[in-house]
Amino acid sequence: MAFVVAIDGPAASGKGTLARRLADEYGFHHLDTGLTYRAVAKALLDAHMPLDDEAQAAAIAEELDLSHLDRAVLSSHAIGEAASKVAVMSGVRVALVAAQRRFAQRLPGAVIDGRDIGTIVCPDAPVKLYVTASPQVRAKRRYAEMQAGGSTDSLDDVLQDLQKRDARDMGRKDSPLKPAEDAHLLDTSEMDIEAAFRAAKTLIDIQIAVRN
Ligand code: C5P
Repeated sequence: MAFVVAIDGPAASGKGTLARRLADEYGFHHLDTGLTYRAVAKALLDAHMPLDDEAQAAAIAEELDLSHLDRAVLSSHAIGEAASKVAVMSGVRVALVAAQRRFAQRLPGAVIDGRDIGTIVCPDAPVKLYVTASPQVRAKRRYAEMQAGGSTDSLDDVLQDLQKRDARDMGRKDSPLKPAEDAHLLDTSEMDIEAAFRAAKTLIDIQIAVRN
């Protein structure tokens, strides 16, 4: 059976960086499920279709090929915002969750990050992490990334956007962002990626030992 590490958390919490490091360390596949919602949002935007057209969005989600998710094309702030609007629709979630669950079966294992991995996509994952950080710390990280990309948005704009996105992701009816009951919390506000990586590695090594 494939070994799944489920990582959830809000935007700019550091979960993506941690997920990639862990996948590298263990030779596991990695899926950033945020990209799947982003890809559906981009397809709607490109086709000039409204972001709340559930039938169209679900049809796009059903056809999505997970092996063609291009982070460089999907990483913009605007696509992230659009993705969180698309992600409230159950028709979209049903299709994407089915594809994500198929990915989770890949051997020898997978690190999957998102908002509902430990709660909905892989509730039986042997390791579940919930990575978080204060809104101020997350906004500063996102602001630095956006400035490097040439953005002129102020830190305050970024903080407000992040809080709006948190509220949408945590407040939606279907699969809201929240820690699974058995998730380990990692607060990266004052922890660097190396410390978060070591903490996660300890938890994973214990579960691998238990299974062998
Ligand atoms: O993580 P990322 O910022 O790329 O995610 C974009 C949006 O996709 C999130 O704000 C969230 O609304 C949605 N999403 C989700 N469930 C996931 C992953 C992402 O609803 N598992």
